Amino acid sequence: MVAAAVGPRIFHGHLNRISHADSPAQAQFHAEQAFRDASLISTAVALIAALSVAMAVSSYVTRRISSPVSALAAAAQEVAGGHYDVRVPRPALGVEFQTLARSFTSMAERLQSVEVTRRRLLADLAHEMRTPVATLDAYLEAIEDGVANLDVATSAVLRAQTRRLARLAEDVTSVSRAEEHQLDLYLTLVWPGNLVAAAVNAAAERYAAAGVTLSHVVAPQSPEVHVDIDRMGQVLGNLLDNALRHTPAGGQVQVRVSTDLGKVRIEVADSGVGLSPEHLAHVFERFYRVDQARDRAHGGSGIGLAIVKAVVEAHGGRVAVSSDGPGRGAVFTVVLPAVARSVQRGAS
Ligand SMILES: Nc1ncnc2c1ncn2[C@@H]1O[C@H](COP(=O)(O)OP(=O)(O)OP(=O)(O)O)[C@@H](O)[C@H]1O
Ligand SMILES: [Mg+2]
Repeated sequence: MVAAAVGPRIFHGHLNRISHADSPAQAQFHAEQAFRDASLISTAVALIAALSVAMAVSSYVTRRISSPVSALAAAAQEVAGGHYDVRVPRPALGVEFQTLARSFTSMAERLQSVEVTRRRLLADLAHEMRTPVATLDAYLEAIEDGVANLDVATSAVLRAQTRRLARLAEDVTSVSRAEEHQLDLYLTLVWPGNLVAAAVNAAAERYAAAGVTLSHVVAPQSPEVHVDIDRMGQVLGNLLDNALRHTPAGGQVQVRVSTDLGKVRIEVADSGVGLSPEHLAHVFERFYRVDQARDRAHGGSGIGLAIVKAVVEAHGGRVAVSSDGPGRGAVFTVVLPAVARSVQRGAS
């Protein structure tokens, strides 16, 4: 554009002089000069203009890019130093940069949650290990001092404590794997009625021994679910264990399966001790027990429901609990995504 604006003017100036030339030689001289000056000057001016524009644009672009890139580099350094709460602002630099910033932020969030899980796990674990270790220690000391004998009763107590520690280790492994989404799920298409029937059969004997009635109702047209059968067995087993432990003899526990807008809902409802509202929000937390002393005496470490939640969420489902209050029973609900095709089966 600069060349087009400058060139013709210079050319015209020389052409004017040609018209006033005295001889053909002078006219030719002016014509040649017109061509030379016009092309040389216009190219030089255009070149300078292009260079200045290029420098201005590149310095602008550099400034635009360098600030988000340095912010990202600073954030990376923070993360490397163990400060996972850094967040990168989203620069208005196009999709690629926004994706980069988003990925970075989600990576930092993920690292942070793993770190939080790790710290809490260590603290909770230390807390849970203290009691059995202290019991073992006290008994061994009493045996060493000759105050107690290593008889059947003592060894039963010692065994109970080592079993408790072993179970704790097992539970902690599964809950942390599940919470960090590292559970290997072997998904199979299964009718929820079969899952429930298997869990109910496995628990039936213990229920009968405790004098608690266990029944199940399955909506005949419920669709299939895509789940890891063993893991879901563990989920239902934990819920049935809890329901039995919190329901006095003569009480009832019912497992209900229903379908709700493309979801399968499995409810474990008991007529037991129930839960007060302040506990409802916390029962799925790791190591949370409503009655520390009583629940621990039953051998519970407060991990069962954390495993239930983590496993169900790993299946893309969710869990919930409701209770009308102490003494009025509790309902634990597992909602799983249903597989679209529905099957017709007989009621269970
Ligand atoms: N059906 C229920 N009725 C009343 N309270 C319940 C019921 N199920 C669970 N809870 C309460 O929720 C707490 C947490 O349950 P969770 O299954 O996580 O732990 P736990 O049963 O004590 O131990 P674990 O399952 O690890 O052996 C229990 O300690 C209990 O206080
Ligand atoms: Mg439990």
